[in-house]
Amino acid sequence: MSKSPIKVAVIPVAGLGRRFLPATKVMPKEMLPIVDKPIVQYATEEAKAAGIEKLIFITAPGKTSIEDHLSPHPDSDRDRIGPSLIEPVFKSDRCAFVRQDKPRGLGHAVGRAQSWLPDEPFAVILPDELFSCSQDNPLQQMIKAHRKTGGSIIATQSVPRAQASNYGIIDGESVDQNLYQIHTIREKPHTDLKDDNLAVVGRYILTPDILSDIENIMTGEASEIQLTDAIARAIRRGSSFYGLSITGERFDCGQKAGFVAANLAFALKRKDISDDLKPYLQDLLGK
Ligand code: G1P
Repeated sequence: MSKSPIKVAVIPVAGLGRRFLPATKVMPKEMLPIVDKPIVQYATEEAKAAGIEKLIFITAPGKTSIEDHLSPHPDSDRDRIGPSLIEPVFKSDRCAFVRQDKPRGLGHAVGRAQSWLPDEPFAVILPDELFSCSQDNPLQQMIKAHRKTGGSIIATQSVPRAQASNYGIIDGESVDQNLYQIHTIREKPHTDLKDDNLAVVGRYILTPDILSDIENIMTGEASEIQLTDAIARAIRRGSSFYGLSITGERFDCGQKAGFVAANLAFALKRKDISDDLKPYLQDLLGK
């Protein structure tokens, strides 16, 4: 593909994964598999396909298995292991691992990448949000929108009122097909919700000036530094943000039902599994 204007992606993987205890007692939630591939690998593959050249992982104590997983397999026998495991998606000199020692929120996590980021727009990928797209993956769709607008892009999809308080919610005006100029963004709101709300779904393309907004809100009292609050500040000072409604099926793997649904959907797409799985599911649902 042609050279991407977005070369670096930040992948926050420092979350505690409390919702998936006891599975996440010693295993990072990003290492939970969707069929036979850990969630984090879907994020690295999406980044690679979108032309990203470097990844910055924001990690936490107890998460070193992520770095191990993204390194070459120690068994160099190609016939036994298969080349796709020996060669990682990104070479190790293309990955940086930065610690977030305390869980202080997504804004704080992205701010930790500051000294590794170039002075140009970068992507943020939250691996929990997994997509199945028939053509361009979410980041590819967003890079196209960034090329068109030059502004920051936030991935959105519509969610019903009952789910809206799990997400950042944007409000804005439609400017093009699937594209909204964002006027306001609120983190997990409980009031002023509609039947249909535009939720932030785990992908961002941000211009580097967002780092000063993150720094600014970090000087406040809050113990959790939300990326949403930094974006709201950037919008108030006149920075252009667009919401792009992502074309594709989304699975919120941060929720148990979304995680199980993703496993079923991805397994049903696999020729080596679906023939065994389909009759079982049909039987189960027929009961
Ligand atoms: C984060 C963001 C939220 C976004 C969500 C997407 O929340 O803060 O704005 O909608 O990811 O999954 P979290 O799920 O980490 O609480």
